[in-house]
Amino acid sequence: MAVSEMGAEQKPTELATLITALDGRPLRRVLEIGVFQGGTFWLWRQLAGPKGQVIGVDLREPRCRPCDEGRAHSSCPRARLRELGEMVFGDSHEKATRRQVEKLLAGEKVDLLHVDGDHEDPGVAKDVDLYAPFLRRGGVMVFHDVASDAYPAVKAFWRAIRAANPHALEFVSEPKDWGGIGLVPF
Ligand SMILES: C[S@@+](CC[C@H](N)C(=O)[O-])C[C@H]1O[C@@H](n2cnc3c(N)ncnc32)[C@H](O)[C@@H]1O
Ligand SMILES: [Zn+2]
Repeated sequence: MAVSEMGAEQKPTELATLITALDGRPLRRVLEIGVFQGGTFWLWRQLAGPKGQVIGVDLREPRCRPCDEGRAHSSCPRARLRELGEMVFGDSHEKATRRQVEKLLAGEKVDLLHVDGDHEDPGVAKDVDLYAPFLRRGGVMVFHDVASDAYPAVKAFWRAIRAANPHALEFVSEPKDWGGIGLVPF
């Protein structure tokens, strides 16, 4: 699956189910918290199309030694992120980071918010508190690692959302001890 080749930290089968579930939904604007090497960022760009707006937040740029050493190079992961969308580098929980996102949106709301940044407690809940207000009514919030034993905070947070929302969907494939995607309409 192309998105795995783009470095997505995801199970291809779960992503495929998510893509099917999103089919037919307008995805003109997407906000991703936690971009890493841009695997899912690439997916959002494909779904939003060239005219869509794709915004990503991460603590730092991906590693690129040639960039750091000022050497000419191709296949640069940093350049790739810049080509795919608008990146904000900083802690998602910082006011300044949120303000930059707000500025990029210029009053518009997003159709999809992907929460895949801080996987600890209360980081994941904080991301929802801070960025869900940018989601339009009828948009969707997507979580990754909802089944991951390595991230009990995300798992517990998702369990609470799922219990409170009858429209929440969960895509978890074998082995069920890592990954897992949760989707909840807003
Ligand atoms: C699992 S990776 C994201 C993977 C990506 N969404 C994908 O599927 O290809 C998590 C990312 O979240 C970032 N992150 C963790 N805590 C963060 C925070 N407080 N603010 C912004 N980014 C954060 C990390 O730097 C890391 O790149
Ligand atoms: Zn580079």
